[in-house]
Amino acid sequence: MRKLDGGGGKPAKLLVCVNPISGSNKPCCGGRGSERLAEALEAGVRARRIDVAVERIHCLNKCHDGPSMRFAPGGSFLLGVQDGDLPAILDVLEARCGTRPAEDGLPFGAFYPGG
Ligand code: FES
Repeated sequence: MRKLDGGGGKPAKLLVCVNPISGSNKPCCGGRGSERLAEALEAGVRARRIDVAVERIHCLNKCHDGPSMRFAPGGSFLLGVQDGDLPAILDVLEARCGTRPAEDGLPFGAFYPGG
């Protein structure tokens, strides 16, 4: 995976290109497995309750370097993402975005004696 640095700060979204249609001289991220990557990232964000949205979009204009992703708004591009990169991407998202409380309102792993 190659990273092109953009703005820092807390991203609100991770944009994942899942474009399935290649152009006349352009490859497409969908043809390189980006749907599978998006599904795995969505599952990882849910499981770890990371406070960020994963949004599937159609093209980040980095078609030759895909699968392509970008922290948004205005953040770094992640290019040539492979399955093995996903744990590190989730770690970065968790560190920069934090986590949501559990749906029952209790923090993750909370224990209340006698409750
Ligand atoms: S098809 Fe993914 S960046 Fe263009």
